[in-house]
Amino acid sequence: MAKNLKNGMPLSPQHKNNPSKRRDFLKTGALLGSALFAGPAFGATKTGNTTDQYHITGPSAFTKRRTLGSGNHSLEVSALGLGCMGMSYHRGRVPDRKVSIALIRQAAEEGVTLFDTAEVYGPYINEELVGEALAPLRNEVLISTKFGFNIENGNMAGLNSRPEQIRKVAEQSLKRLKTDHIDLFYQHRVDPNVPIEEVAGTVKKLIKEGKVRNFGLSEAGAETIRKAHAVQPVTAVQSEYSLMWKKQEAEVLPLLEELGIGFVPYSPVCRGYLTGMLNQNTRFYAPNDNRAGLPRYQPEAMQQNWPIVATLIDFGHLRGLTPSQVALAWLLAQKPWSVPIPGTTKLAHLLENLGSADFQFTQEELQELNSTISKMTIHGDRYTQEEQRRVEN
Ligand SMILES: NC(=O)c1ccc[n+]([C@@H]2O[C@H](COP(=O)([O-])OP(=O)(O)OC[C@H]3O[C@@H](n4cnc5c(N)ncnc54)[C@H](OP(=O)(O)O)[C@@H]3O)[C@@H](O)[C@H]2O)c1
Repeated sequence: MAKNLKNGMPLSPQHKNNPSKRRDFLKTGALLGSALFAGPAFGATKTGNTTDQYHITGPSAFTKRRTLGSGNHSLEVSALGLGCMGMSYHRGRVPDRKVSIALIRQAAEEGVTLFDTAEVYGPYINEELVGEALAPLRNEVLISTKFGFNIENGNMAGLNSRPEQIRKVAEQSLKRLKTDHIDLFYQHRVDPNVPIEEVAGTVKKLIKEGKVRNFGLSEAGAETIRKAHAVQPVTAVQSEYSLMWKKQEAEVLPLLEELGIGFVPYSPVCRGYLTGMLNQNTRFYAPNDNRAGLPRYQPEAMQQNWPIVATLIDFGHLRGLTPSQVALAWLLAQKPWSVPIPGTTKLAHLLENLGSADFQFTQEELQELNSTISKMTIHGDRYTQEEQRRVEN
């Protein structure tokens, strides 16, 4: 799995132009988007006798590797994955499709091997985007997607993890993702109307059929995780975790450690807030940005929470790190079996975020940061009441 990408030593972005690290792949128009960005700076050159064969020159993986899950259901992945949701959904203006395709491919070129999407992102269009972007690289990367909602008239319309729905979503996601298998298939939210054993049993059958490789849960509580894992080993739990939302530390993380399940923190830079790019003057593009309606992103809360960002700025400034890098490095320092999936629409931010894997906290630094931030009150809930009811943590 992702063999070519495991060979490289961790390299930092400035060590990129190593012509010995080459990877070929066949594709049709795969690098069109790269050309839109910067042409040769991305190391993309068209070669060979046919119009559809390209070389990508440039770095091999510079991100370090981590393992999610254990036994037959473990996945070796890059230390950070890429959350693709924001390229289509909930994070404001949607970039040109070609730009996002190029960004996803560039992430793979930088060594990222885990790409996260879901049926409901869009809905559908984010899976289509990820499928198109990764089709030429399919054997070198892992794709995670999610089931668990009804979709009516282009909107989420309640939870649904009934067996027939899971199967239907799997079939449709496979088509949109242009693949014959889903590497990691998460239940997006626990459905109180369907016993988790039945959900796990359905995914188990999909695994037997080869359509799905591994099972995941999102925002599930400890009891649910334990029950699910008894039926079908869970490879990873994906839930919100960052310096501003640490509830997973109480029960979920110890259980995952006990059971050998991996952890994928989502919204690892708190939907952008921990990068220092959002503040009380930010105006979200409300038609496609759920932050406009979330309590934590209202001007007053963002103003009150600023001391946390200021702490990251100060900490990072002394060490040549951006606040985003400090926030991600902090996450990476928590558990060696956790793989954050920051989302971005920008190459500069992608490279910046990947650079966080190169920073190692000393024990003293970690203690200092933890003790400063633990004294701070976090203002504003992360979700609306309705969304909060759907999560078990
Ligand atoms: N399982 C679930 O229920 C669930 C829920 C939410 C999200 N997710 C997954 O987690 C992924 C990430 O979550 P998220 O988008 O909610 O939160 P996030 O990764 O914490 O934040 C993403 C936001 O931060 C900005 N950003 C990222 N890096 C930056 C940097 N270095 N400097 C400045 N701004 C930066 C991005 O803007 P730019 O585009 O401008 O960089 C974007 O608006 C999603 O793509 C999705 O795959 C899962």
